[in-house]
Order: sequence, then structure tokens, then C-alpha cells
Amino acid sequence: MHNETNKIELVEKIKKLKEEKKALILAHCYQNIEVDEVADYVGDSLGLSRIAAKTDAKIIVFLGVYFMAETAKILSPNKKVLIPSLNAGCQMADMIDIEKLRLFKAQNPNVPTVCYVNSTAEVKSEVDICCTSSNAIDVVRSLNAPKVLFLPDKYLGAWVAKNLPDVEVISYNGFCPTHFKIVPEDIINLKKIHPDAEVLVHPECQQSVCELGDFIGSTTQIIKHTQESHSKTFIIATEKGVVDRLQRDYPEKDFILVSKKAYCHNMKQNYLEDVLFALENEQHEVVVDKDIAKRAILPIEKMIAIQNNA
Ligand code: 13P
Ligand code: SF4
Repeated sequence: MHNETNKIELVEKIKKLKEEKKALILAHCYQNIEVDEVADYVGDSLGLSRIAAKTDAKIIVFLGVYFMAETAKILSPNKKVLIPSLNAGCQMADMIDIEKLRLFKAQNPNVPTVCYVNSTAEVKSEVDICCTSSNAIDVVRSLNAPKVLFLPDKYLGAWVAKNLPDVEVISYNGFCPTHFKIVPEDIINLKKIHPDAEVLVHPECQQSVCELGDFIGSTTQIIKHTQESHSKTFIIATEKGVVDRLQRDYPEKDFILVSKKAYCHNMKQNYLEDVLFALENEQHEVVVDKDIAKRAILPIEKMIAIQNNA
């Protein structure tokens, strides 16, 4: 950990090195807030993928979990993509592997597969299209199919189904353990103390939690909604990083984290020291098997094209 003087030095060093090495630093909004001081872009999974797809930087330092860095590498195969900690996995992404995917598809033949980006490159290499939480409904709608397979997040799948009643969504049995820890009682109890608060919920939450939301959306959509809303107080049902940034950026409003348990340890591994180490040593480089990458890029690009047309 560092004090304020060290922090200023660290930020300066990172910025200088970033320029020298023509590196771009991308950070997910669940990261420790201090990394925003050096990040070129802070956003949700979709926003980060879009930037990774079009950057001309030589190096991308990805402050997020492994599947996000892997997605950046697939989209920018000629760039060096670095992730400071190789332990930053995603428990949801690990709930499905290629064998489980093949079995899921075999049980439901000839049905298009929609895969949340929270998945490994290998899994992406055998699906029809990817989605993120900000475009899942648009992606499924774009298929114009009566039935789709949705993986790995059953709660995001349920939310899509609710919004597209004409489509049969068959969801895989995966979920995000961080969002799963949020329970309806958290919201009910907070509403007793803050009856006028607006409740904003990420669609990775359980259905019983989503039902209590005034607004449901991805991290960026939640942030945008708070800017457009006239409410003064918000109960935020997603990961803590979103609340930290909202409170910093809009101090005139009150943002209440729904539960202390809404904390993803894998997303909190990077501090400024780790960013500096990654840049100085160009570690750890993300490598994706070329054949897998060649196939995995197709569903990701299809997703990006849909959103760009929207
Ligand atoms: P979004 O960035 O799409 O909101 O996803 C949330 C998440 O859990 C990322 O790991
Ligand atoms: Fe994975 Fe959930 Fe953490 Fe996102 S918040 S990285 S889905 S475990």
C-alpha cells in the first residue's frame, strides 16, 4: 500500500512509461478506484471491448479479469495485451468449459447459442454470437429465432426472456457469485431507511432482486441512469466499484451499496504498484491459441457490429 506522496510518484511514473511504450490502459469499473488516475478508459465490458477493437496502441494493459483481457487479445491479435495478475479469474466464466458447452448444445440441437462475454476464449470459439449485459436483449432479438441457448449466466438469460416474451430462452445453469450474494432483504431493509431511493439493479442479480429494481442495466447503463434521473438517493445493486465511482463523480447525490457482500475479489487485485510492475516488465502477456482466436473473434465481432448498428 502507498501514501499520498508515493501515489503521485507512481501515477507520474506510469503515465511516463505509458507514453514511452505507446500503451493504453483499460479498466473495468469494478476495479479499485485508484487505477482511474492512470486509465485511458474506464467502463463496462462492452465499452472496453469496443476500445480494444479499434485502438492503435502497441500495448494494452487490461485492468479487469482474465476473460476481458483475453477478449481484448482476440480483437487485437497483433498487440501485446498485459494483465497484471494472472489470478484474476471470473467464477462465472469458469462454470462452463468446452465439454459442458458441447453437451448443452447436443441436448438442444439446431438452436443458436448466445454467449455472455464472461466466458473463456475456447467457449466463445464454438458459439454463434456473444453479448454483454448492456446489449444482451438486442443481441438475442437480432437473431430473430424462436428459441436460443443462453450461457453461462442464467439470471441474465432470465432477464432477456422477460424482455423478449416471444423468444424461448434456454439458459445454462451458471451465475455470478458476487451478484448472487445480493438478496431481496438487502433492498427491502434499505428501502425502510431510504423510502425515496431509486433502486438500480444489474441483471446478473437473482430474479427476486431484479423484481425490486426501478431500473435494470449494465454497469454503464446504471451510471448513465443516475445522471439522467431527478432522484437524489440511489440504492445500487451491483459491485462496489460502481458505487465508489458514482460517489466520487456526483457528490451532490447519495449512492448506497446494496450489501457489503457485493464485492468481487478477483476485480480488486490491481493497485497502482501492480500497473507499474506490469508496464515495466511487460507482464503478464495474455496468449490465446491462434486457432481458437480465429474462431472466437467471429461471435465477438458479430456482437460489436450489432451494437454499432443500434
Ligand atoms: P458489465 O461490465 O457488462 O456490466 O458486466 C459486469 C460484470 O460482472 C463484469 O464482470
Ligand atoms: Fe465474474 Fe461476477 Fe466478478 Fe464479474 S463480478 S468478474 S461476473 S465473478
